[in-house]
Amino acid sequence: MEKKQLGKTGIYTSAIGLGAMPMSLSDRPPESEAIKVIHRALDLGIAFIDTADSYCRDESDKHHNERLIHKALQTYHRDTSEVIVATKGGLMRPQGNWTRNGNPKHLQQAIRSSFEALGGNKPIDIWQYHAPDPNYTIEESLKPAKEAVAAGIVRFVGVSNFSVEQIQQAQGVIDIVSVQNQYNPWHRQPEFDGVLEYCEQEKLTFLPWSPFGGRRRYQNLQDIPVLTNLAQEKGVSVYCIVLAWLRAKSPCILPIPGASKISSIEDSARAVEIKLSALEVERIDRETAS
Ligand SMILES: NC(=O)c1ccc[n+]([C@@H]2O[C@H](COP(=O)([O-])OP(=O)(O)OC[C@H]3O[C@@H](n4cnc5c(N)ncnc54)[C@H](OP(=O)(O)O)[C@@H]3O)[C@@H](O)[C@H]2O)c1
Repeated sequence: MEKKQLGKTGIYTSAIGLGAMPMSLSDRPPESEAIKVIHRALDLGIAFIDTADSYCRDESDKHHNERLIHKALQTYHRDTSEVIVATKGGLMRPQGNWTRNGNPKHLQQAIRSSFEALGGNKPIDIWQYHAPDPNYTIEESLKPAKEAVAAGIVRFVGVSNFSVEQIQQAQGVIDIVSVQNQYNPWHRQPEFDGVLEYCEQEKLTFLPWSPFGGRRRYQNLQDIPVLTNLAQEKGVSVYCIVLAWLRAKSPCILPIPGASKISSIEDSARAVEIKLSALEVERIDRETAS
C-alpha cells in the first residue's frame, strides 16, 4: 500500500485508512466478524485506523470501538507496532444521542480511559478533540491533551470539526498533526472554507470523514452519473472513484472510509491504484454539489 507522511512527523502510514465507527454503532456486526474486517484491512496494508471513545451504542458501552481495535491488533498474526490508531474524545452518547463535552476535567478522564481501552501499554498515537464545545475555550479544552503529551500518554494531537480560526487557536496551545472534517461529494465545504488550503500550507494531514456520505447515504453515490460513468470506464466501483477524487484534491488528504464488511474495505483499498486526470477531477467537481 502506498504510504503518506503523517503531518510533518516523519512517520509514514498507509495512504488510505480504515474508519472503524460502523463496527460499534447500534447495527454493528458481531465482534468476531468485526475483528476479521480489521485483520483484512491490515492484510491489505492499511496501517491507519480511526476511532473514538464515543463509537459505541450509548454511555454504558463507551470505548467499545477502541477495545475492539485493541483486541484485533493483539490477535493479528504479524507485528502491529507501526499501526497508527487515531482516537477522539469530547463527545458523549446519552441514550445513543451525540452531545459535546469539552469540559477539561471530563477530557482528562476521557484521554486516560482511551489510553486504557487501547491497551494502556503505549501512548495513544493520535488523540483528536472530536468537536469544539462552545461552553469552553479551545485553550481550556486542549489543556488536558497538552498535559497527556507531556505525561507520555499521547503522542500526537489532532482536531476535528474545526474551522481555520479554531485550528489556529489550537496551534497556539499545542502542535497539531491532523484535522478531521466532513468531506464528500455532497459536502465540499473544506474546499471553500479554507481548511483544506490551510492544512496544505501547515502540512497537517486532512482526514475527510464520511467520504461516502456515511451509512445513510453511501448507496446514493450510485445515483450520481459522473461517478457511475467514471466507474464503468475504469472498471472499478463508485467508492474507488470517490476515494481517488478525494486523494486527487490535495496531497494532505488521507481518506478513512468506514467499513463493517470485508468486501467494503477490500474494495476501498483498491482506490490507491486509481489515478484521476485533472479533467476527470473537474468533471466530478462540476457535477457534484458544493
Ligand atoms: N470526526 C467526526 O465527527 C466523524 C463523523 C463521522 C465519521 N467519522 C469517521 O469517518 C469514518 C468514515 O465515515 P462513515 O463510516 O460515517 O461513513 P462512510 O465512510 O462515508 O461510509 C461508510 C459505509 O459505506 C459502506 N462502504 C464503505 N466502503 C465501501 C465500498 N468500497 N463498497 C461498498 N460499500 C462501502 C460501508 O458499508 P458496510 O458497513 O456494509 O461495510 C460503510 O458502512 C468513520 O468510520 C469514522 O471513523 C468521523
